[in-house]
Amino acid sequence: MELKEELKRKAGEKAVKYIKDGMVVGLGTGSTVKYTILKLGELVKDGLDIIGIPTSIATEKLAKEMGIKLGSINDYQVIDLTIDGADEVDRNLNLIKGGGGALLREKMIAHASKYEIIVVDESKVKSVLGDFPLPIEIVKFGYKRTMNVLSTLGCKPLLRVKNGEAYITDNGNYIVDCKFERIDEPAKLERRIDEIPGVVEVGLFVGLANKVIVGKKDKIEIMTS
Ligand code: A5P
Repeated sequence: MELKEELKRKAGEKAVKYIKDGMVVGLGTGSTVKYTILKLGELVKDGLDIIGIPTSIATEKLAKEMGIKLGSINDYQVIDLTIDGADEVDRNLNLIKGGGGALLREKMIAHASKYEIIVVDESKVKSVLGDFPLPIEIVKFGYKRTMNVLSTLGCKPLLRVKNGEAYITDNGNYIVDCKFERIDEPAKLERRIDEIPGVVEVGLFVGLANKVIVGKKDKIEIMTS
């Protein structure tokens, strides 16, 4: 296994120790939290009794394959613990998410969660957010105008494309990846973007993560808010 993958695995697997019998658990999306879900599947086979709330269709499929019992956010409006990945994390536990396109469901589930744990490899920890283009989910209607409005905030918006076609989220929307030079005030930027008509959700997660588990070469670092 290449080093980066090994660090993702370390962080992802570590997170299952916070999952206890009887919990309702939000299941994040991506290549790091995949390791949490695989490990959780083993624990479920050994008798752990939890309900998983998936943040994407892809995670729902993986969790089902692992034999994890699933529920929906409508039935479980308070989630005990969510484990998810991130594209960037700063030392205040602000996040950029949405590289995998699941930011809307991820944010709804983070908002419903009593506790949110993020699992990343060490390359994702930054002093300032913004290296990673900020994913923003927007409705299809008037998307070119919405992109132009976003550019007035100082970023270069790019419509996400997959296999030569505009990428469509699990909710039937587009994603625009917005490259800012640096994001010094994530809370302020999040509010400004959310105010734009046509924006469904922005991949800035401010004040939602309680703990970040960082897979490093020599150890695992735990950052807590
Ligand atoms: C999904 O939309 C994202 O928010 C992921 O949680 C994030 O992109 C991290 O994914 P990886 O663990 O695959 O880098």
